[in-house]
Amino acid sequence: MATVAITGAARGIGLELAAQHVAAGDTVIALPRKASAALEELAASSGGKLTIHACDVASDASVRAAAAASGNAPIDVLYNVAGVTGPMANELEGADWDAWNEAFAIMVQGPLRVLQAFLPRLGDGAKVMNITSQLGAMAWPMGGMYCYASAKAALNRLMRSVAIDLKGKGIIIGLIHPGWVQTDMGGPHAQITAEESASGIRKLGAEWTLDDTGAFRKWNGETHDW
Ligand SMILES: NC(=O)c1ccc[n+]([C@@H]2O[C@H](COP(=O)([O-])OP(=O)(O)OC[C@H]3O[C@@H](n4cnc5c(N)ncnc54)[C@H](OP(=O)(O)O)[C@@H]3O)[C@@H](O)[C@H]2O)c1
Repeated sequence: MATVAITGAARGIGLELAAQHVAAGDTVIALPRKASAALEELAASSGGKLTIHACDVASDASVRAAAAASGNAPIDVLYNVAGVTGPMANELEGADWDAWNEAFAIMVQGPLRVLQAFLPRLGDGAKVMNITSQLGAMAWPMGGMYCYASAKAALNRLMRSVAIDLKGKGIIIGLIHPGWVQTDMGGPHAQITAEESASGIRKLGAEWTLDDTGAFRKWNGETHDW
């Protein structure tokens, strides 16, 4: 049985990942910004397998406190899931820079902050699976969503460097586009359910090898263009 830690576990893909890991008998360290009723219900029905530790990934103090409160058991898979859409307006003439700063604090600094805090508990073979987006790929053929797309591109490049730097310790880094998913972010008309996405992500988390550290994949295991 594995021990996993999941940011953004209050709803969406993070909550579904937590539910699937509990169902598989794994130990889950849920790291929501703030617990939701659904996450609390999952904890209550998990027989102690899932514990909740409030973790705002945009805050150093919050992330450090959550890591400390969650004990010192080794982590097999750390999922960096937390994300926001960020500003959506046409920004060629002006932009909401506070919203940009918040989005980058959550989706670029956030995953590194969380990795730093949990690094002492990541050993040989441990995995850090980062939920990125196809919008962060240079190959993405559309304009718009400047903040979100550039934050995910920055995350991709950041984790490529981290993958190189942690390879000697046997720590495996993955970048996963989760699909267009039916969550609050993806909306009801998205292509796949959170169950399908999380199931694919979980499989990737189980099977990713050190030879492929730093690679960019889709939830279904296909290689993603950079
Ligand atoms: N849905 C899609 O189609 C899609 C496509 C590509 C990539 N993604 C990526 O997949 C990941 C999960 O998205 P989703 O679809 O599950 O979105 P979602 O349903 O909107 O959930 C986002 C989650 O992130 C959490 N979060 C936001 N800011 C946070 C912070 N500062 N600290 C901790 N948690 C925070 C939210 O917590 P609160 O409840 O506290 O707000 C929520 O649990 C994101 O990284 C997203 O960019 C999604």
